[in-house]
Amino acid sequence: MMTMIKEAIDVIKKNDRGGFTVPTNRLYPHQWNWDSGFTALGISSLDKSRAWQELVMLINAQWTNGMVPHIIFHEKNPNYFPGPDQWQKNAESQTSCHSQPPVLASIIWQMVSRGTEYDKMKACTLFNSIMAYHRWFFLARDPDKEGCISIIHPWESGRDNCPDWDIGLNNIKIPKNLEQYFRKDTSYVDKLERPTDDHYDRFMTILKYGRDCNWDNVKMHNEGPFLAIDPGVNFILLRANKDLYKLANYLGYTESINEIRNWIKILEQGCQKMWNKDINAFTSFDKRTNTYCDAITNASFLCFYAGVGSNKQKSYMIDHCNRILNNCNYGMPSLDPMHKCFESKRYWRGPIWSIMNYMIAVGLEDINELCLANKIKNDTIQLVKKNGMAEYFDPVTGIGLGGRDFSWTAAIHLELLKDEIDINSKHNFLNNKNVIN
Ligand code: GLC
Repeated sequence: MMTMIKEAIDVIKKNDRGGFTVPTNRLYPHQWNWDSGFTALGISSLDKSRAWQELVMLINAQWTNGMVPHIIFHEKNPNYFPGPDQWQKNAESQTSCHSQPPVLASIIWQMVSRGTEYDKMKACTLFNSIMAYHRWFFLARDPDKEGCISIIHPWESGRDNCPDWDIGLNNIKIPKNLEQYFRKDTSYVDKLERPTDDHYDRFMTILKYGRDCNWDNVKMHNEGPFLAIDPGVNFILLRANKDLYKLANYLGYTESINEIRNWIKILEQGCQKMWNKDINAFTSFDKRTNTYCDAITNASFLCFYAGVGSNKQKSYMIDHCNRILNNCNYGMPSLDPMHKCFESKRYWRGPIWSIMNYMIAVGLEDINELCLANKIKNDTIQLVKKNGMAEYFDPVTGIGLGGRDFSWTAAIHLELLKDEIDINSKHNFLNNKNVIN
């Protein structure tokens, strides 16, 4: 067991770029939003100051409108595509121009609730930024106050090419004048494990539209090429608001409590929109065509993490959970293996992701489904023990896929085994670390 803790620490240290951690060396050489959140959580058992620094460096890139971008380009790197010039014509900030699933408040609450006065003090310095971040989601991504948050690009869901976006993406007309571009990802990772070229053309079409309208949120929402309701973002934001509420009480931010309570109320009702009666499950919804997607994904199971669903809905979701786990050797696949689009190796269309497993297991524990939670946690640990810190894993064979030495896989491993981290591991992390103060 200890061997993998050491390996996990080595991966995170190797990916440290001085105050922030890249997901992996060549494929993702910048700072990513939710990757940094999970990485901070993993590091927090080893070195609190470095964990907070990860979050501070991310939040320092927050836009004045409150949005925390999905990528921060701290330094130039010609090996990554699409870089800052693809995002903005006259790059004002070295960032991407939309967000990612907002896990930050939940991560901060975890770090504070098991921390000390130091963690409280650090959380106070970030509290108002997190408030502004959540407020931005409601203003920019639910301008008509329908009760749930939309995404304007599949990348905003963090689950880039999952089948949830197929309806929306297939409806996009790829403009004739879409500039020729060269993908870099497929030079590092087998094409079969990555999104298809056709999906990439559609991703780039939305990017061009955003760049051309200067990422005007109203225009993107009302007329943009893509708009969808993602169970991942909505469930994660609802959980984040519940954790933010606890944080506000704990830190004494009483003036924020009503606003957070209201956000919780809005989303609790709004999330019902994602209940797909045809298959009795929470699924995504394409706003341009007003259609539900028929795929049950790992994001569907975040309903427990958000605490959403009537008893009847919960029991349907538990049945789906059991059925899916019985249909593969390792859980939780990113797509129901019985679905026609299931591909055990292709990115978000089948493989297992440690971060999703972690959140699903937390949610299952909350509703006392301990057997299922333990199965998912054990699989997550075993996959890493057998196949290392891969970006994702094949649910049939367990083989590691995508990028290697991946920070959030390592971080979740540390989080799941945090009770076994001893003083030697901490020394190991603190030696030669690369921290800017
Ligand atoms: C991919 C994933 C996204 C992640 C990023 C960096 O784009 O889909 O969720 O944040 O890689 O790991």
